[in-house]
Amino acid sequence: MEKNKTTTDFLLEHASIQPVSFHMPGHKGAELYCRFGYGAFLDKLMDCDITEIPGADNLFQTEGILERTQRRYARLYGAERSYLLVNGTSGGILAAALASVPEGGTLIMARNCHKSVFNALTLGNLRPAYIYPEMLEEFGILGAVTAAEVERAIKEAPNASAVILPSPNYYGICSDIRAIAEVTRNYGKVLIVDQAHGAHLKWLGQERNGGRGPECAEDAGADVVINSIHKTLASFTQSAVLNLMSDRVDRYALEDKLQAVQSTSPSYLLMASLDISADLLETYGGDLMWQWNENLRYFYEEVKSILDIQVIENLESLDRSKINLDTSPLGITAAELERRLMKRGIFPELTTGNILMLMTGIGNQRRDFGRLLHALREIRAELGQCGKGERKTEAQGGRMPEKRRIYPVPKQKRRVRLEEAEGLICAASIIPYPPGIPLVCPGEKLKAEDIAYISQLRRAGEKVIGVNDEGRVTVGV
Ligand SMILES: Cc1ncc(COP(=O)(O)O)c(C=O)c1O
Repeated sequence: MEKNKTTTDFLLEHASIQPVSFHMPGHKGAELYCRFGYGAFLDKLMDCDITEIPGADNLFQTEGILERTQRRYARLYGAERSYLLVNGTSGGILAAALASVPEGGTLIMARNCHKSVFNALTLGNLRPAYIYPEMLEEFGILGAVTAAEVERAIKEAPNASAVILPSPNYYGICSDIRAIAEVTRNYGKVLIVDQAHGAHLKWLGQERNGGRGPECAEDAGADVVINSIHKTLASFTQSAVLNLMSDRVDRYALEDKLQAVQSTSPSYLLMASLDISADLLETYGGDLMWQWNENLRYFYEEVKSILDIQVIENLESLDRSKINLDTSPLGITAAELERRLMKRGIFPELTTGNILMLMTGIGNQRRDFGRLLHALREIRAELGQCGKGERKTEAQGGRMPEKRRIYPVPKQKRRVRLEEAEGLICAASIIPYPPGIPLVCPGEKLKAEDIAYISQLRRAGEKVIGVNDEGRVTVGV
């Protein structure tokens, strides 16, 4: 850490190098707003940072300007109702889970769910029943959740109230929500889809926009869908939208939970940026999506001519807006490729083992893809002859969360040194970040191999949430 450098110093310095962003947020900087006539909002940013003055409506009892924005989203996604979120999809997940499952009840959840779902377990005193995603062995990453797996879990936990899973997952792999929704409907369960990474699917995958790809969960029959508009569309970080698609979740219970998990001072800057993102979609959505698809097509085509750069492609379940590069043929790790890209001012979203993920967004322009291709060509030349196909590290994100016995989540907790935790029951999730998928969850026993793996990540300087500064984890008494 550089001494004396402030957060503001860092941000201004970073902006001054005019970086190419292949990470969140999706707007990718001021240019998108300026190009489409929202520059005045950016110029007046501080002056637009207000509170609930007369005429400004109230997020938790909308009837004016905020209600209008919510209706715009409901129209855009075809929802019964849409809710603006200022605590990201994380807040929407908490509210949806708590509104769908009574205290002490059971939530069927994908084992690769985001940590907000695990937080919902603690807050609602909920019991988890896990569904396990498939593994894409070839790439060492997690794939889709099948409808058959959801049905298995429902049969094993028939009293569960709801099912929740992420689709797309962090790598852009989507589950067949249509088939899953049929199962949940047949068994009378609520289906909540964490579509944090797929707010754009409604438009980008459409043939009329020059695209192809998985359908969005709203069209496929989910009951509640939560979208991080900030991740791939055009709003500010932390802003998101929850779409209520059916009356299977009590609207008023949901609204009650939404106000409980969000700030009582919701930022008008975030909410206005959601309004702008909706306006962009309504007014220029077709063109923007067409351009995005064209840029992706250009990239996927051109990258083929670079020797040893391999992309994950042609999976029917893949949202191609997430570009996954497999670095194994280059003989370097994804982290090493990321370092070389960042030296050239290009910033990816995620590395896991040999997979480097570049997150494209509505604000990326053709020149960003051009710079990326140029950098990849340079790096390929720089590497010369390299160890073909050698895997340099274990694919961390690909460590399949294994099926484990679930014990009651401990109510009495203590902190012990990681090395002394073997055989103890985890009381707070241990989560390598990124990708933010828990390795050990509350109610699971810590094994020797977990401890060895977590220690290895920490030695390598990776962030592991759930292990504190003193190297301690939280377990049952
Ligand atoms: C799969 C998944 N779900 C939910 C979230 C939370 O979204 P947000 O950052 O909008 O709170 C994330 C964040 O990265 C995520 O990866």
